[in-house]
Amino acid sequence: MSYRDRSRGGFSSRSEGSSRGRFDRDQGGAGGRGGFDRGGMMDRSSRPSLKGTQPGQNLRKPRWDMSRLQKFEKNFYKEHPNVSRRSPSEIEQFYEANQITVNGKSIPKPIFTFEEGNFPDYVVNQIRKNCWQSPTAIQSQGWPVAMSGLNMVGIAQTGSGKTLAFMLPGIVHINNQPYLERGDGPICLVLVPTRELAQQVQQVAQEFGHTSQVRNACVYGGAPKRPQIKDLEDGAEICIATPGRLIDLLESNKTNLRRTTYLVLDEADRMLDMGFEPQIRKILEQVRPDRQTLMWSATWPKEVRKLAEDFLHDYVQVNIGALQLTANHNILQIIDVCMEFEKEDKLVKLLTEIMQEKENKTLIFVETKRKADDISRRMKRDGWPVICIHGDKSQQERDWALNEFRSGKTPILLATDVASRGLDVEDIKFVINFDYPNCSEDYVHRIGRTARSTNTGTAYTLFTPANVKQASDLISVLREAKQVISPKLLQMAESSRSYQGKSRSRWGGKERGGRDDRGPSLRDRDHSVGGRGGRGGSTSGYRFAMCSSCLTCWYITFELIKDNSIIFTPNDHYDGA
Ligand SMILES: Nc1ncnc2c1ncn2[C@@H]1O[C@H](COP(=O)(O)OP(=O)(O)OP(=O)(O)O)[C@@H](O)[C@H]1O
Ligand SMILES: [Mg+2]
Repeated sequence: MSYRDRSRGGFSSRSEGSSRGRFDRDQGGAGGRGGFDRGGMMDRSSRPSLKGTQPGQNLRKPRWDMSRLQKFEKNFYKEHPNVSRRSPSEIEQFYEANQITVNGKSIPKPIFTFEEGNFPDYVVNQIRKNCWQSPTAIQSQGWPVAMSGLNMVGIAQTGSGKTLAFMLPGIVHINNQPYLERGDGPICLVLVPTRELAQQVQQVAQEFGHTSQVRNACVYGGAPKRPQIKDLEDGAEICIATPGRLIDLLESNKTNLRRTTYLVLDEADRMLDMGFEPQIRKILEQVRPDRQTLMWSATWPKEVRKLAEDFLHDYVQVNIGALQLTANHNILQIIDVCMEFEKEDKLVKLLTEIMQEKENKTLIFVETKRKADDISRRMKRDGWPVICIHGDKSQQERDWALNEFRSGKTPILLATDVASRGLDVEDIKFVINFDYPNCSEDYVHRIGRTARSTNTGTAYTLFTPANVKQASDLISVLREAKQVISPKLLQMAESSRSYQGKSRSRWGGKERGGRDDRGPSLRDRDHSVGGRGGRGGSTSGYRFAMCSSCLTCWYITFELIKDNSIIFTPNDHYDGA
């Protein structure tokens, strides 16, 4: 296949109107998250008025009378004799070797092999078909906890098999409950943030549930309701749902959660963040309080921990890897510190090299939907085999794009954060962050689309001075994964450290008015008087200033400004690394 125009800088004819749309970011920004019936992908500009249409406003919170609720069993765990025999020091060694940290009461010991899980045959046979060698660390510890009926939080690296960690105990849980009767809703509810993830989790539910005739329904926006309602009415024991559509079906009485006793929040930190939290609250009110609740993610920022406790009460926490923000160690992380205007050339060069590789499946992340459309259109024009996915595409287009990419027919997928969580495409070899994400958790999830299971992968990130707020967090992630750290990045972090310490906010825009307050366009070479960054309206902050020694070097310096006077100007010329 030949691609036109690769050596040329950037892509052909920059289209008009491709300016950074502050409000068309997928999943990004405070308040722009969440959305209704769009799997969390609705942007502010097109969001319907909230007046009188709060999600779930017609849902009444049931008054749970625990003495009248039918009892149910949630502990099905039988410890294998091998596990019982294991000494505390052996367990300690296992924890250390696998970097497992556990917290909570009555925590069962981990299992070392699939056999030790004591799963019923209908599950074991299916595991065998996959020819996996052993449980992953999160499965080793997560299965015994989940099978014991305990509430839990499971945090483990991207691609480490968390889906199966909650799905297998869920299937066993269902098989130990009375059959559904006409009018009953699901026994197991899995809430996820995006439609594509819902479909993917459904495939796992299907693969491992069909041997025991456990049925499922996948409920998400953008697709006709009727078939989804039919699946629920036909007696789906598992319902995998995005919150908006589920609330819709609950409000219209098409289903109910009276039988739900096993509740999963996949990508739990995302589900509990500001966009989804009200919807999650509404849904969880409909589920009996003595249910088993399980939350899973690769990241667990402190902002959501407290909130999670509202829904979990007593719970066990299982952490794999370092307790800080951690990327999958099978990913080679390369950070290219550059200027905004250099990005397109860099992307072309990178893709030219990547496309010469035999395994070249590449996922590129950009910040906004408009930019995704714009860049993919120009790439296509230049002959690149690229396809685009974001929240303003129809569901049909989204499904088609993902299928083309999965099957390898189109090896480059250009996406917004709609594709950053949970997606499991086995052979993605490269992730490129054309734009740096809004928060460091998103960085970890995005690059985690490569190196799934036992595979390895490479992540390239273009990091500009506009991303400086994120430099320290990024360095911590790189350091933890023992990656080479560019001196440019270190220097950037150093320059901004004192400012950043005061203003860090996971939600990016909330405290500081969004990413667009980052200062002037950095393409403009006259940086001597930069726009004011920092806290809007205050007399303190920072501004960008170009190196005054040569006026051309890449390094953007900072002036920290307090009460209108410059207190810090690390105005050093930098030769580059
Ligand atoms: N024990 C195992 N050994 C090897 N591969 C496994 C094992 N369990 C699951 N897998 C495979 O690992 C891949 C990643 O699994 P999964 O999508 O559940 O990861 P995850 O931990 O949920 O990642 P993310 O945080 O990105 O959502 C899947 O293709 C799955 O089939
Ligand atoms: Mg997952």
